[in-house]
Amino acid sequence: MSNAVIVGAQWGDEGKGKVVDIFTEFVDIVVRFQGGSNAGHTLVIGDEKTVLHLIPSGIMHKNKVCIIGNGVVVDPEILLMEIGRLRDKGILTDPAQLRLSTDAHVILPYHKQLDALRENQKGKARIGTTGRGIGPAYEDKVARRGIRVHELTREAVLREKLESSLDWINFQLVQYYKDKPIELGALIPQMLAWGQELAPYVEETPLYLDREIKRGRKVLFEGAQGTMLDVDHGTYPYVTSSNTVAAGASIGSGVGLKAIDHVIGISKAYTTRVGAGPFPTELDNELGEHLRAKGAEYGSTTGRPRRCGWLDLVVLKNASRLNGLTGLAITKLDVLSGMEKIKLCVGYEYEGKVYNDLVASSFDLNACKPIYEEHRGWKDDLQNARDFDELPDTAQRFIRRIEDLTGVPVFLVSIGPRRRETIMRSNLFRE
Ligand code: GDP
Ligand code: IMO
Ligand code: MG
Repeated sequence: MSNAVIVGAQWGDEGKGKVVDIFTEFVDIVVRFQGGSNAGHTLVIGDEKTVLHLIPSGIMHKNKVCIIGNGVVVDPEILLMEIGRLRDKGILTDPAQLRLSTDAHVILPYHKQLDALRENQKGKARIGTTGRGIGPAYEDKVARRGIRVHELTREAVLREKLESSLDWINFQLVQYYKDKPIELGALIPQMLAWGQELAPYVEETPLYLDREIKRGRKVLFEGAQGTMLDVDHGTYPYVTSSNTVAAGASIGSGVGLKAIDHVIGISKAYTTRVGAGPFPTELDNELGEHLRAKGAEYGSTTGRPRRCGWLDLVVLKNASRLNGLTGLAITKLDVLSGMEKIKLCVGYEYEGKVYNDLVASSFDLNACKPIYEEHRGWKDDLQNARDFDELPDTAQRFIRRIEDLTGVPVFLVSIGPRRRETIMRSNLFRE
């Protein structure tokens, strides 16, 4: 196998960062293809924790290339901060380690301002965004008035484009939201400075990838967010503003569909969601609090407490179908240790009927009652297991049941945040 895409199979924060870091050893290039700094991907190496928002999770491997693809919306302030931190730590020592697409769209201060103003105005109906300007930046992209990375060094182009789009942006800010307008005079020098600092990293990444793939280099595409947050297929409107499913890897990096051989879905052994929106298996009780405390379920980007609940196989089947999953990695199995009973949601009851598969828009997910299957738990800590056979029988049975019900093989089980706390049942990159 050569190239693979890793996607979140739930509502994000499944542990994609950890799994990407582990598989980077077996590939040459890691590519982020959508989303922006709404993502927070955590890597724990030794005792050191690193949270990445824009730079791909392969960056800890010094001899690999990380790419921020055209489909990503890039906040230059956050990217430069991340670059600075990794440089200080001696991890990012050569700009050749990080390539930034000429065509990625830029998140500007007014995108973040609009994100916050809209959420405030919505009150109770707010989406609970990360406030990173993601929605407004993607809107500008689709409205054909966005600024792209390659324009950051061209003053005349910036001036012409911004003069016309700021008319509309300031109309919204001042007239509708009664807030302060954006001053073109201050913005342009700031953008040019960003352009200069980022220049050593900028590349025509679709050409770069084409060349490298033809040379036999292996590529890992790193998804952000999760399938249920996809703008088309998720729990709309409580979603993010990009296509988070595997097909987004092709669009957001400029490689053809045939370049991708494997599609890996990441899921926790339970479910979490941060932000508003339906969540059928949510445990709004002591059990949910127990999962939050034991799993340290607080957002890596915003620090918000994550909502917690049982694993939902209707959601996983949906992810399997939409992404064409060829393998699943189950993370955080260790968090379930010590629970007497563990539940798996195998279907929903809705208006007197039972459903096992989901099209999120077809019915009101808030009104769906989960149908549970109950499994015996295990007492032992799992952290020292290195082989699937070393897991307690009940834990093995739990994983096999996930495989039976989704029809997707579980090739990796994660039992702690560190690299070594991982059970690899088969290595897709060595087949
Ligand atoms: P991502 O956005 O999908 O990369 O996931 P996040 O980094 O936002 O959230 C996953 C959290 O779980 C991080 O704090 C990880 O360090 C942690 N984590 C990952 N895998 C495991 C695991 O198997 N067990 C435990 N206990 N923590 C894990
Ligand atoms: P990673 O890559 C979990 C959620 C927000 C909100 C909705 C829309 O770390 O898994 P946005 O700021 O994108 O407009 O917010 O999407 N959200 C995430 N939830 N993990 C993420 O990323 C997320 N990125 C966005 O909480 O509900
Ligand atoms: Mg995250």
